[in-house]
Amino acid sequence: MKFGIIGAGPIGLSISNKLINNDHNVKIADARGIERLEGKKLTGTPVSVEEVIKDIDVLIISIPFQALPSIRNVIDKVGKEVIIVDTSNYYPQMSGEIEEVENGMVESVWVSNQLGRSIIKAFNNLLAYTLENEGTPEGNSGRIATAIAGNDLQQKQKIMSIANELGFDTVDSGSLNDSWKHQPGTPAYCTELTKEELTEALKKANKEKAPILRDKVIEKLSSASGGYSHKDIVDLNREIYNS
Ligand SMILES: NC(=O)c1ccc[n+]([C@@H]2O[C@H](COP(=O)([O-])OP(=O)(O)OC[C@H]3O[C@@H](n4cnc5c(N)ncnc54)[C@H](OP(=O)(O)O)[C@@H]3O)[C@@H](O)[C@H]2O)c1
Repeated sequence: MKFGIIGAGPIGLSISNKLINNDHNVKIADARGIERLEGKKLTGTPVSVEEVIKDIDVLIISIPFQALPSIRNVIDKVGKEVIIVDTSNYYPQMSGEIEEVENGMVESVWVSNQLGRSIIKAFNNLLAYTLENEGTPEGNSGRIATAIAGNDLQQKQKIMSIANELGFDTVDSGSLNDSWKHQPGTPAYCTELTKEELTEALKKANKEKAPILRDKVIEKLSSASGGYSHKDIVDLNREIYNS
């Protein structure tokens, strides 16, 4: 398939590498200009944002949450047949507080409104390290699963099949409106669960508690003097998000 990716951070780059390893065609762009790609270890063809949206089947957007409104003019030009995937998460510590989200709007519903397009929420509940290193071939026991939400079943199934190719089992987490169940602070968020465990974790999500638990993890991570290993972060997420 033909993919465009906007955003060359750890998530965008990792998805690009994996897609190319699976023989897909990938173009990658930086929303703030092609020159920002210089010096980055890229796979895929570096292009401008104007180019990245042309002649593709899927557009993956992987930029900071608060930057999403800035690409609305680009998204307006994306063909109606193109599936748009968003990987973002809301952390007010990084983005500043966004009133509608603070008042309970589901993060990806806010994103969809900002972009003026239906989106599929995917890859948001895998840490960059997990995405890069912990995928395994289909059928492996203990395979990590990722939650995928969206309103268009056909589009969602295509993205679930791509996630599967990239090394992860998938769980259909429902409509975009249901995607809060894997937002930061929920038991399903970056806790490296199998398909069965993730299905159960999604049922345990608590919308009111999630932002409080999200902030608790951020506070612990930022006050840690010696640093946290990847395993420490997953363990911390598991402990706090299930408390
Ligand atoms: N990191 C994780 O573990 C993780 C896990 C799941 C989901 N996510 C989500 O996935 C998305 C990408 O995260 P990431 O960690 O890969 O990288 P990131 O730090 O969010 O950066 C991704 C890309 O966005 C660009 N960017 C930064 N500020 C921008 C702005 N104001 N306007 C337009 N583009 C901007 C970056 O360019 P420069 O490199 O030039 O700054 C980079 O190309 C985020 O929404 C994040 O919440 C992250």
